[in-house]
Amino acid sequence: MIHRRSLLTGAAALAATPLLPMRALSAGIDPDVLEAAMGKVQIAPEGYPQTEIWSYGGTVPGTEIRARQGDRLRRRLVNSLTEPTTLHWHGIRIDNAMDGVPGVTQDAVPPGGDFLYDFDLPDAGTYWYHSHNQSYEQVARGLQGPLIVEESDAPDVDREEVLVLDDFRLDPDTGQIAGFGNMHDFSHGGRIGNIAVTNGSFNKTLSVKQNERLRLRLLNTANAKIFALELQGLEGWIVALDGMPLETPQPITETLLLGSAQRADLIVDVTAENGGEAHLVRYEGDETFSQVLFNVKGQASGARRGAPVPLPSNPDMGVTGLEDALRSRLHMEGGAMRGFRSAEMDGREVGFREAAQSRNFWAMNGMVGMPEEPLLVAERGQTVRVVMQNDTMFPHAMHLHGHHFREVLPGGGLGPLRDTLLMFGDESREIAFVAHNPGDWVFHCHMLTHAAAGMMTRVKVLA
Ligand code: C2O
Ligand code: CU
Repeated sequence: MIHRRSLLTGAAALAATPLLPMRALSAGIDPDVLEAAMGKVQIAPEGYPQTEIWSYGGTVPGTEIRARQGDRLRRRLVNSLTEPTTLHWHGIRIDNAMDGVPGVTQDAVPPGGDFLYDFDLPDAGTYWYHSHNQSYEQVARGLQGPLIVEESDAPDVDREEVLVLDDFRLDPDTGQIAGFGNMHDFSHGGRIGNIAVTNGSFNKTLSVKQNERLRLRLLNTANAKIFALELQGLEGWIVALDGMPLETPQPITETLLLGSAQRADLIVDVTAENGGEAHLVRYEGDETFSQVLFNVKGQASGARRGAPVPLPSNPDMGVTGLEDALRSRLHMEGGAMRGFRSAEMDGREVGFREAAQSRNFWAMNGMVGMPEEPLLVAERGQTVRVVMQNDTMFPHAMHLHGHHFREVLPGGGLGPLRDTLLMFGDESREIAFVAHNPGDWVFHCHMLTHAAAGMMTRVKVLA
C-alpha cells in the first residue's frame, strides 16, 4: 500500500510541475507523423526469432488511428524505408489528391521523403490505411493499420475490440517473411500465408464476461486470404460492412466471409458459461481454428439485451436513378488454367504466354494493367452501373476507390453499401454507385498479386 501511494504521489507531483513543457513529456514524437520504417516483432511461435517487418509505428498492424466523424485527419507520412511508398486510406470518401495512388494521384514518396495527408472524414466506420506502392510486397511486409472513425452517437456496448485479421508467409527455417518471386502467387489465388494472425498474434486471447456486449470491428488486411468465420459461445449481429451501417442489424446465422480488404462490424453478446470459452472460429476447408479465444471470467450485471438498434447512417449514401444510369461492363479473364487468348499490354496485343513472361496473368476488358483510357467517365452525381463478369477460375475482391457501391441483386433489390466486393470464379455480379466524388479513382482486385499482375483499371468522375 505504501509503495503504491508513493508512486501516486510521484505521478501527481510530475503532473503538477508547472513549467515542464509538453514536448519533453512526449519525448519529441510528433503525433501527426506516421513513419514507415523497418522493425522487428514476434509473429512466429516461441523458439523462432523475431520477424523483420516494414510498418507504421513499429508494430503489425500499424498504429491505430482513431478520430471522430467530421474530423479532419492530418498525417505526415515520413518514409524511412529504402523504397518509395505512399499511404492509401481504404474506404474513405476522400479528396482525390489524398488518395495515395502513385502515378494517379501523387508521386510515390522517395526514401527520406515525406508527404502530408490532410483530409475530411465524412463517414463514421471501420477503415484502414496501407501502402499503395508495390502493395503486394509492402502490405505483406506489414505496411497497414486500422483507421477507426467513431460515430458521435456510440452504440450501447460494454466495450469494443478492433480485430485485424491477417496472414503472413514466413520462411519455416528462419521465421522471416518469405520472398515475393513466386509466380504461383501471381497466377493463382494470390499470396496466401502459412500463419494466420489477429492483431499480429497467432493466438490472440481476450478476457470477457458472460453476457457482456462487445462491438467487434473485424478487418481483413491479408493479401489474398478469404477469412471464413463463425461464432462459438457468442451470439450477435452484423451492424456494418466496409464501414457502412446496415439499415437493419443482421443476425449472424451463417458463415461470414471476409475477402481481402473487407470489414465487418459485429455486436455480439457473450453467451458462453462463466469459466468457459468462446471463439471467433476460422474455417479452412473442413478444419476449424480459433482465430480469437475469449476466456469467460465473471458475469456482466444485468440481463441479456435485445437486438441492437442500427448504427446512425452516414450522409448522402442513397443509390437512385438505376434506370437512367451510365452502364459499363468489366470482363475479367486470365489466371492459371484458362489464361486469355490475347490482350493489350504496353500498347500492343500479346498472348497469355508472352504476358506471363513479364509476370502478368490477368486482363480486364482485354487490357493488362492500368489502361490509358478510363473504364468509364461519369458526370459528377451520375449513377453508374457496372456488370463485372469473372471468367477466371479464381475469386477476386474488387475494390473501387473514393466511393461505396451497392450490388444490384438478381432479384432487383440492392445489396448493402460496400467498397470491396468478393466474387467467385465464373460469377457475374453488378454494382451501382453515385459518382459523387470527382477525380481519377482506381478500381482493382484487392488480392494484391492480382492487382500487380494486370487487374487494375480506373474510373473518372468529372468535376
Ligand atoms: Cu485498399 Cu487500392 O486499395
Ligand atoms: Cu483477383
